[in-house]
Amino acid sequence: MARIERTLSIIKPDGVEKNVIGDVLSRFESAGLRVAAIKMIHMNEEEAGGFYAVHKERPFYQDLKKYMSSGPVVVLVLEGENAISRNRDIMGATDPKKADPGTIRADHAQSIERNIVHGSDSPESASFEVPYFFDDKEIF
Ligand code: CMP
Repeated sequence: MARIERTLSIIKPDGVEKNVIGDVLSRFESAGLRVAAIKMIHMNEEEAGGFYAVHKERPFYQDLKKYMSSGPVVVLVLEGENAISRNRDIMGATDPKKADPGTIRADHAQSIERNIVHGSDSPESASFEVPYFFDDKEIF
């Protein structure tokens, strides 16, 4: 059943570096998702590690923290019907080699780590991730 959801999206350091912020935002908007909050930030390793704490036992966790704090990122809240799963469809699979043609990761990502964008994978993760970066008064 369709319901209005909010999801957290990040345009990662490789997306900012590749100058595709506008392209990524345009894909979200063209698909009917609305930008409800947005800012550019540069996380330190501790902030990146806190955001990805769910992965702290994974072998890629240290590299992920370094990569996500290697440059500025754009964090945003997307709102719309079934926003969480729709955002994941627009992004494509985590591993760009497995991402469907026409998705953000298939078109722009270079590896499973440097995969251009992040999106909340469930309502539970969205309810942790959105307030990690945004106060209620910053979401419109
Ligand atoms: P993201 O969707 O932000 O969620 C966790 C991130 O960890 C993922 O995108 C990738 O950037 C990274 N990641 C996931 N799996 C791997 C892996 N096998 N090797 C390296 N990085 C990974």
